[in-house]
Amino acid sequence: MQFSVTSKHILIGGGSGFVGRALTQALRARGDRVTWISRTPGEARLTWDDIKTQGIPDCDVVINLAGKHILDMRRRWSAAYRDEVLRSRIETTQTLVQMINAKSDTATSSAPGLFISTAGKCFYGSQAFQSTEEYFDLDERSEPIGVDYPARLVRLWEDAAADIDTQRVRHVKLRLGIVLDSHGDAAGDTLGSVIRPTQGIFPMLHAAFKRGLCVTMGSGVQPFPWVHVDDVVGIFLQSIDRAEMQGIFNVVAPGIVSNQAFTHMLASGVGRRVIGRIPEVLIKAVVGLDRSTILLLGQRIKPTRTLESGYRFRYPDMRSCLENLLGSAGSAGEVPLGVRS
Ligand SMILES: NC(=O)c1ccc[n+]([C@@H]2O[C@H](COP(=O)([O-])OP(=O)(O)OC[C@H]3O[C@@H](n4cnc5c(N)ncnc54)[C@H](OP(=O)(O)O)[C@@H]3O)[C@@H](O)[C@H]2O)c1
Repeated sequence: MQFSVTSKHILIGGGSGFVGRALTQALRARGDRVTWISRTPGEARLTWDDIKTQGIPDCDVVINLAGKHILDMRRRWSAAYRDEVLRSRIETTQTLVQMINAKSDTATSSAPGLFISTAGKCFYGSQAFQSTEEYFDLDERSEPIGVDYPARLVRLWEDAAADIDTQRVRHVKLRLGIVLDSHGDAAGDTLGSVIRPTQGIFPMLHAAFKRGLCVTMGSGVQPFPWVHVDDVVGIFLQSIDRAEMQGIFNVVAPGIVSNQAFTHMLASGVGRRVIGRIPEVLIKAVVGLDRSTILLLGQRIKPTRTLESGYRFRYPDMRSCLENLLGSAGSAGEVPLGVRS
């Protein structure tokens, strides 16, 4: 792990989550101080109420990762849930923008030098195609290809960060793909993580595939815009360390595969065969129309500006990613990955 030249104080909204914990561990390992902003008080934490009443403490970097999980299957997709998904992103972002700007307005400005706002790859919207080949490349310079509910959500979420005082504060906007990591909590290797997706999607998929439930989502032709958690952390660290980085960066691996190819590679990796597909109609019925596009219609996103910034992915392709994830998930007896991609 690299060490920064001088240690920094970094404030992370939603730092207690899946991505935030991985990032916190890496920051602390290189000597940085991390404070989380959370709904729950605790050691090395401030609450959102603390921030609203007292402002942000002196710090070098503010990151926002807060957001109610959009695919929490314990909750019915109701108006109340939709509202929480939206408000948890927009209100936390607005609070941070307001408090950073207030700090930069003071005569003895002690505003943080950097704000990293995050959003999702769903910014690019979705469109149904009949084959994987019909999907075309989208990068940081692209407009959405079709505006669905997740794309509208992400647009509002990004807009909430737009008022940051960029004259004084560097603004990096990260658009995250589906983050893959195998280090689940106690429930991470059980089908229970299907309904408690606190460690990302991989432990749940791994648990299902190991039991032979190797299925594609719908047609399977849709791209699967993924990224290994180590690269997510790596891109955050580079964004902090490289003063020239600003604007939008896609946090997706260069080697996007189709859902079908991913399904075959993971099945092969756990020594199983693909047994079929979950019909679209069933997915729509279970997760609701609004969210179904996340699973059924992907985007072929390229991390063009991220690569231009000099970032080198540790896991640029699905093969290297799965070898790492299946290795660290302790998949004894599993077989080498198949070549169908
Ligand atoms: N993981 C992915 O694959 C992925 C992909 C694309 C985008 N993203 C986005 O990246 C961000 C971080 O992802 P993640 O997987 O680390 O998220 P996560 O683990 O589901 O949650 C992050 C944190 O958000 C806070 N939070 C949850 N509900 C909230 C609410 N109603 N109001 C305010 N805060 C709330 C929680 O912190 P406290 O309990 O401490 O308050 C939680 O630890 C999220 O905004 C997510 O949408 C993630």
